[in-house]
Amino acid sequence: MQAKFPSESFTILTDLVLPSETNPLNNLFGGELLARMDRAASISARRHSRRITVTASVNHVAFNKSIPLGSVVTVEAKVSRSFRTSMEIFIDVWVEDRESGNRTKANEAIYTFVAVDETGHPVEVPAIDPQTDEEKSRFDAALRRKQLSLVLAGKMKPSDATELKALFL
Ligand SMILES: CC(C)(COP(=O)(O)OP(=O)(O)OC[C@H]1O[C@@H](n2cnc3c(N)ncnc32)[C@H](O)[C@@H]1OP(=O)(O)O)[C@@H](O)C(=O)NCCC(=O)NCCS
Repeated sequence: MQAKFPSESFTILTDLVLPSETNPLNNLFGGELLARMDRAASISARRHSRRITVTASVNHVAFNKSIPLGSVVTVEAKVSRSFRTSMEIFIDVWVEDRESGNRTKANEAIYTFVAVDETGHPVEVPAIDPQTDEEKSRFDAALRRKQLSLVLAGKMKPSDATELKALFL
């Protein structure tokens, strides 16, 4: 299988914040943002693998800034690293200022998707070849994040998480 560039999975999802999607403070409800990020990440994983993809885990979410009613929100997703059957998707969330049009980073998240066949069994995905400095740094850290996610899920022994342990030595 030929390796792909992260840019080939780049996905942009832009939408408004409507009243039915807000909390009592008139800011975007966290679950709505999670759903938007999941949708963008799913498209990104599909573009990389050209397979059915399922969410295996949400590795990290930072709700750094609230997003007010009426905002234009852009969710950008890109595969940061692929492994055998799984892909890490990095998601950046931007809010656009109504008057200036300037974008401010509001949140970010990291999801893991797995490519599966029609019966739900994991299948191999193409390798990835990072190009930019940001893509390379996200690629380098992805193995540690995978190990942490597997340890927390009880699917890997901490003693086997070699790259993760190296962070603390
Ligand atoms: C995700 C799923 C396909 C994994 O199946 P599995 O039997 O655990 O398969 P495997 O053990 O072979 O794991 C497949 C890959 O997922 C990775 N993986 C599994 N759980 C993970 C987790 N919590 N964090 C990170 N990666 C994970 C494995 O490391 C493996 O990656 P690799 O092949 O690239 O090395 C299966 O658990 C599933 O179908 N879950 C439900 C998915 C779903 O419905 N999502 C929507 C939620 S509503």
